[in-house]
Formats: sequence, structure tokens, C-alpha cells
Amino acid sequence: MKYSFAPQLETKSGMLAVFVSDDNTLSNTAKHLDTATNGALRKAIKAQRFDGKFGQTMVIPAPTNLDVDLIVLVGLGKLDKLTNDKVTKLGGGLVARLQSNGIEDLTIALDDFDGCALSGEAFAVAIASGAKLRAYRFDKYRTKEKADKKPSLKNVTIQTNAHDAATTLWQTRDKVLDGVYMARDLVTEPGNIIHPVTFAKEIETLESLGVKVEILGEKEMADLGMHSLLGVGLGSVHESKMAIMHWSGADDKDQAPVAFVGKGVTFDTGGISLKPGANMDEMKFDMGGAAIVVGAMKALAGRKAKANIVGLVGLVENMPDGKAQRPGDVVTSMSGQTIEILNTDAEGRLVLADVLWYAQDRFNPSYMIDFATLTGAMIVSLGTDQYAGLFSNDDGLSDMLTKAGQNSGDKVWRMPLSDEYDALIDSQIADMKNIGGPAAGSITAAQFLQRFTNKTKWAHVDVAGTVWSKKSTKTWEKGATGYGVQLLDAFIHENFE
Ligand code: BES
Ligand code: MN
Ligand code: ZN
Repeated sequence: MKYSFAPQLETKSGMLAVFVSDDNTLSNTAKHLDTATNGALRKAIKAQRFDGKFGQTMVIPAPTNLDVDLIVLVGLGKLDKLTNDKVTKLGGGLVARLQSNGIEDLTIALDDFDGCALSGEAFAVAIASGAKLRAYRFDKYRTKEKADKKPSLKNVTIQTNAHDAATTLWQTRDKVLDGVYMARDLVTEPGNIIHPVTFAKEIETLESLGVKVEILGEKEMADLGMHSLLGVGLGSVHESKMAIMHWSGADDKDQAPVAFVGKGVTFDTGGISLKPGANMDEMKFDMGGAAIVVGAMKALAGRKAKANIVGLVGLVENMPDGKAQRPGDVVTSMSGQTIEILNTDAEGRLVLADVLWYAQDRFNPSYMIDFATLTGAMIVSLGTDQYAGLFSNDDGLSDMLTKAGQNSGDKVWRMPLSDEYDALIDSQIADMKNIGGPAAGSITAAQFLQRFTNKTKWAHVDVAGTVWSKKSTKTWEKGATGYGVQLLDAFIHENFE
């Protein structure tokens, strides 16, 4: 798909989108169209109870004296109530409607709306962002798609007076969305294609953007004492890996970096504590945390962020096997702390324990943020597709992430940590056990992670309910959502640049 910004309306065919705000106030272009068609627009509006409410759309055939095939009226509601997020959804909504209906060109006419909460360029880029987010498809394994089901839309052109500023702004937004696309690709790929070895290979492609990539294998991790992570991969035929990505974009290359850490369980069967069969296929998305980190590195390097960032992901496959670890086993983590494994399905925390410890030990980061599809209990607390759960030992960091969440649309909701919850993972025979009781499962998982942060300013984002969606929305087609990449982009932009 091609996205562009133009000063003049130049349509030949396809669909033209024009806006109508609250109480049926037509935009200038809409007014022109109405005049040029002897009042056809107003007539259609009257006939169909259209009143310009936010998100309303109405398609009408274009009169033959115009250079387009169809006109879509789009409701904006109250102009002073518009936000980035809302306008993004408008762009996505248009693409959801048009992408495969035969139309190749969508032209969106933006007028200078007096009293609009967004600048012309912000409005234009938000519309284009929504369009690109919603246009994502993963078609690689389809060999028999009928021609009439294939996407037809090829060009999205946005007419705006702020076209120069919009084009400049889009250059960075576009890179961020490429990061979202990469995260979605990684999450959507099945477990036989993306396993620790191939995932590490994909990460190496970031080197073309100037990211320095190091990959550690089992031998190197064993030398470091990372037996908590390594235990999870014992049942897999694929070698466990840890990937470390460096982006040094700050003027001061020696400035302490921000560290992003991701859970990369490329498939989670539960191991010897095997999961039930229903929906087990979805556990290919158990590397969603790692995909967020990799997608964010791609976004930030792509747009040349002026910040120092390291991304670390632990890549393992959790399989049952004669060599797999057992419930009851005790392992020693890189930190020296011992862990009694009472359930091999609580594996994400075992992977993160060693990666978090390694990250703070080697990089001494100013902040450390981990992302993980860690607990089913997170979905019980916050549901799916809305808020991810945020846990943090630092109020400042928590506020920064909450704000970045509101601004980017990737929202987080803070959950508690406390000594009382922490006591629930004390073990009879080791320093800790890898599960708490039946209650507060997401919190006990976070308490476990906290024991490996060594007092670094840290946040944990449990994305179990947000990286994968069973339903389509205005910004994604059902499947991988790409959640988290835009959150990290906003977090870096708002606080470090
Ligand atoms: N990857 C799962 C968590 C998960 C489940 C994410 C469903 C998304 C959807 C994790 O490894 C896991 O299995 N957690 C267990 C922990 C339990 C054994 C303490 C869970 O949530 O049931
Ligand atoms: Mn599990
Ligand atoms: Zn898991």
C-alpha cells in the first residue's frame, strides 16, 4: 500500500472520503460536493439519519459529473473532542470497509477545521497510521485465495494543506508502524517456523538498521549460570538462545541505557505439566513479549531515536520430553537464587529471571521494562484487547508508562506488589517456588520477577490478554495486534528525547 499527502484534490476513480462534524456541519470539500451535485449530499444525509456523530460513515454513489466512483461521508463528532487515538480509528475504519471491495484508490479530503483539537498534520498522520495499522495482512501461507477476496486497495492519498509537515511526520510514524508489522509477523508465524534458532536469525536482520546484535547459545548461557532459563528448553530439539540488541542513539553514547526485556517462549505446551488440548495452538503467541521488544527496536532504530536502548529476549521452546525438566526439580539461577519448579507450565518467569538478572548486571540500566504473556490470570483480571497489567517498583516509571499508554493507545493498568504477596512464593526447600497459590496469579508471577531485578527501577507488563485478539477492531484484523511497540516508542519519545 502507498500512503501519500497531497496539497490538491486529484481524484480520477475510487472513493473520496469527506468529513461531517457534529450537527451535520459539512467540511469545505463536502460543501463543494453538495453544490456540484445540486444538493445530493444533504439529501442523502437526510434520508439516512446521518448526523455527523463520531465514527458514523455513509457511502453514496458519486454523481456522474464528479471524478470519483463513490463518496463516503465520515462523521467526526465534536471537533474539540478529537484525539489522536480517535482519528487513528477513523483511518482504520475506512480501510476495514474498503480494503477488499474492489476499490484501488482512497482519497481523503482534509479541510482546515476551525476548533479541531488536532493540527492539520497530526490529523493527517493519525488517519494514515490507522489505515496502515488496519491494512496489515499475513498472507504468506495462502495459496488458493480467490481473486475477489484479495485486497484491492493500493493507494491512500490524504489531501491536506499541511502536506509538507505531514510528509515529514509520516516518515517517522511509518518506521514505527514497520516495527508493529514486524511484531505481528513474528507472533503470527507458527511454532514450526519461528523457534529459538529462527527467531534469533530474524533478530539479526535488525543489523541493517544499525542495531548491534549478539546471540548467546546454550554453552554461553550455561557458563553464565543461567540454569533457570536453560531448564525450560531441556525438552526441545531447538537450542535455547538469548538475543541482545543495542541501539546507541543518544548524543552521549555512555549514558546508561533503558533496557527492554521480553519473554520469548516460541511455543508453550506447558512441558511435563502439559496444557489441555483446547486452544493450545494459541501458545505460538507466547513469544509476544519478545516480539514487542524486537518490534520496538526496529521502530526506534528505524526512526533513529535519540536514546540509548538495549533489548534482551530469552528464546526457548517449552516441550514435554524424556529430557524435559520435571515438577519438583530445583534449579540455580544466574543470580545464585534457587528455584523449586512445582509446575513446568509457569515457565515464562523462569526465562525472565535469568534475562532480567543479566540485563541489570551487565548494563546497569536507568530503567528496565519487561513484557511477557505471563499469566492466564491476567486475562481474568483485565480481559482481552484493552489494558495490559503493569507492575512496578517505581512510581515515576509507572506514571511514565501509564501516560505513554494513553497517548499511544496501548494502554496499561497498574496492579499491586507487596511483601505479603511476595511471601506466597516462598519454598519449603529452595529460595522460592515458581508458582503461588490459586489466587492472585498475575501478582505472584510479578513478585517472582521482582526477586531478579536487584532493585533496578523496573516495570513488568503482563501482555497475556493484549498481543493476540479473537476479534477484529478498527486497528487490527483478528490475530496478532502488535500491542506494545507504539507504547515503547511513545515512552522513549516522551521521556528520553
Ligand atoms: N503462557 C502462559 C500464560 C498464558 C495463558 C498467556 C493463556 C496467554 C493466554 C504461561 O506460561 C502459563 O502457562 N501460565 C500459567 C501459570 C500457572 C501454571 C501458575 C497459567 O497462567 O495458567
Ligand atoms: Mn506456560
Ligand atoms: Zn508461557
